[in-house]
Amino acid sequence: MIIPQGKTEFDPMKSKNDSLDEVYQEKKSKNFWAIFLIFLVLLLFVLLYFSISINNKTTQDLKNQLQQKDLEIENIKKQLNDLNLQKEEKSKVKKEEAVALTPADREYLYDKEFFKKHNMNTESNLNKLGYETVIHTHTLEKGMEHFELRPFAVKKTAYIIDLIKRQSKYEGFEKKFAYINGVNSLRAYKTIYEEHNWKDKNEYKTVTEFLKNYENVEQQKAGAYILTKKELENDYKIDYLKFVKSRHSTRNYKKEPLKIEDVKAAVEMAKYSASACNRQYIKLHYYPTGKMKDNVIKYALGKGGLYLDGVNTFIITFDVNGLTGAGERNQGYFNAGLYSTNLVNALHSLGIGTCFIQFANSVKEEDALKKMNDIPEYERIAVILFAGYYDEKSIFAVSPRKDVNELLIEHK
Ligand SMILES: Cc1cc2nc3c(=O)[nH]c(=O)nc-3n(C[C@H](O)[C@H](O)[C@H](O)COP(=O)(O)O)c2cc1C
Repeated sequence: MIIPQGKTEFDPMKSKNDSLDEVYQEKKSKNFWAIFLIFLVLLLFVLLYFSISINNKTTQDLKNQLQQKDLEIENIKKQLNDLNLQKEEKSKVKKEEAVALTPADREYLYDKEFFKKHNMNTESNLNKLGYETVIHTHTLEKGMEHFELRPFAVKKTAYIIDLIKRQSKYEGFEKKFAYINGVNSLRAYKTIYEEHNWKDKNEYKTVTEFLKNYENVEQQKAGAYILTKKELENDYKIDYLKFVKSRHSTRNYKKEPLKIEDVKAAVEMAKYSASACNRQYIKLHYYPTGKMKDNVIKYALGKGGLYLDGVNTFIITFDVNGLTGAGERNQGYFNAGLYSTNLVNALHSLGIGTCFIQFANSVKEEDALKKMNDIPEYERIAVILFAGYYDEKSIFAVSPRKDVNELLIEHK
């Protein structure tokens, strides 16, 4: 069969099949697109869902974080508020305290704080160690002050040895009284043990061993000694009443500076004053001329009525490093008083008139004067003393004394 060019052979069955095929293909293609579209839509939905839920989650997280921060801010605000309240409370208390504290209260408080800061039991130094050594050395010498002796001071000697060794760590220790005195009292102790034939005792061996390394220390009288009544009488039988009555507060002086030898001679006499445990913590600051003398005069409250020409000035202090325990809080003033009496008597015996000038100054003034006049921080001023040679004529206030019966209270 000839098939005309450009024409295909017509086959009804084939044609029918072909058209079915086409329809089928078309439908298939349509279905594919429909499914693809549905899939796409679904995908979009899924994507949309995820994006929304992610978004929601992030928003929720941020919300949570914000809430957290809000809570933190709230907390900080609360803390700040509490702090402010505390601050207000404190300043209220302080204000109340300040109102309640009188100037005198503040002076007392200063005394307490000063004592707490500088007494012997705070941070150790050579000065404090020295005073502590003297206390224990003095106990040891009192132990030797008996007519009949038994072996004694086992622990005490060990402690003194320890104190002396501790002093050796500081510069300049070898020249200090406490060190020399400590070594010499151990020497006296050793001698007593030898005299009593107690050489087998451990304390004797310890002290002897220790002293071997201290042979070069200056020899000094130590321990105890006996005087007869006769010997004592030779020394004390003087007309003391005449002497003490001849001392008067002297408020006019010869216009002449004191000789340093005279001042030293007076100190040599005054140093025999009694002192608690022989500690000797009273100091005499001497200002004969210059700016420091002017400072003393400036701060001297009771100088009214005094002729200041020819005056030499002193400040008597006590060293708080030498005091131990609150019970001794007033010992400084008491010991300064004892020393001062002997000092003015000593100066009087050398032809030097004196007048105490009470130190009733504020602690602020005391502090300022100490700083200006090279007085160590840990000392306290007990009294000011003016002094000068007696002039050709002196004028004295009578200052009558009370009757003995008014002063002596006899408790029977
Ligand atoms: C601690 C003390 C403080 C004194 N303060 C002053 C003073 O500031 N001014 C003064 O002129 N005399 C002062 N005096 C001297 C006394 O007035 C004097 O000792 C007292 O009247 C007894 O007199 P008499 O020292 O001549 O025996 C003071 C005496 C002492 C013991």
